Amino acid sequence: MFRTPRPADHTELAGKRALVTGGSRGIGAAIVQRLLDGGASVVTTARTVTDETPSGATFIPGDLSTLAGAQELAANALDRLGGVDIVVNNAGAARTHLGGISAIPDEEWLDALDLNYLSAIRVTHALLPALREAGAGSAIVNISSVAALMPVPPLAHYSAAKAALNAYSKALATELAPAGIRVATIMPGHVLTPGADAINQTFADAMGVSLADITADVPLGRPGDPRDIAETVAYLVSDRAQWVTGVTLTIDGGQLPVI
Ligand SMILES: NC(=O)c1ccc[n+]([C@@H]2O[C@H](COP(=O)([O-])OP(=O)(O)OC[C@H]3O[C@@H](n4cnc5c(N)ncnc54)[C@H](OP(=O)(O)O)[C@@H]3O)[C@@H](O)[C@H]2O)c1
Repeated sequence: MFRTPRPADHTELAGKRALVTGGSRGIGAAIVQRLLDGGASVVTTARTVTDETPSGATFIPGDLSTLAGAQELAANALDRLGGVDIVVNNAGAARTHLGGISAIPDEEWLDALDLNYLSAIRVTHALLPALREAGAGSAIVNISSVAALMPVPPLAHYSAAKAALNAYSKALATELAPAGIRVATIMPGHVLTPGADAINQTFADAMGVSLADITADVPLGRPGDPRDIAETVAYLVSDRAQWVTGVTLTIDGGQLPVI
């Protein structure tokens, strides 16, 4: 059971302007709410708004899986916010293929790269001039996955895209450090969200086990709550993390074995 931490400091992110992609539900919605709780102004995007989408944020509908879509969303977000200090590239999705890696069609490799890797690059690059204008203290957080380090065949395309995102983030952190712009990557483990439930159900059905069995192996005794990831994002974009850049944080309740 997730234990709610001490209430957020409502002034910590006051004056900060944030874009969170994929904030209509799941991890993204929790990040949006946590940044709002910290006092930031938040724009979020997805193809469809849901009941879970925090009402305190401005929602802009759109599809991030193409260059044009990503650039349009970034431009609209910038327009609404009047500048940007925080970018959280969270939108992502995985489609499982139980028939082996070679059964993953070419277009799905491309889809996986477009959404889980290139969308973050496209949004970030469209916003870089504004981030440079915001200058030192601004931050980018990319939401990757432990799948980047623990790839499984049915998610080979998704895992490869997230591994590429990790490498890109590290290079970007190096390039932006002289400007005081920090870049961090989070690799969540099993976090209970609508998207993850759908994937895990496929695995559960194939293995003849329950959905709960799929996430039962977390050493800290429970699967992640979206707020576990949101708290980490709130730290990373705040001045508490002012000497933190280029990191790839595993937030997984201990799932990833220490090697
Ligand atoms: N939950 C986990 O266990 C877990 C583990 C590791 C990593 N992650 C990563 O964490 C991030 C969030 O995952 P989640 O579990 O919260 O997933 P989720 O519940 O499926 O939410 C995904 C979000 O991304 C949006 N999105 C998907 N495709 C999009 C598109 N083409 N254009 C614009 N927005 C799109 C979705 O809205 P629409 O569908 O309406 O567009 C939604 O807002 C993803 O990057 C995922 O890879 C999750």
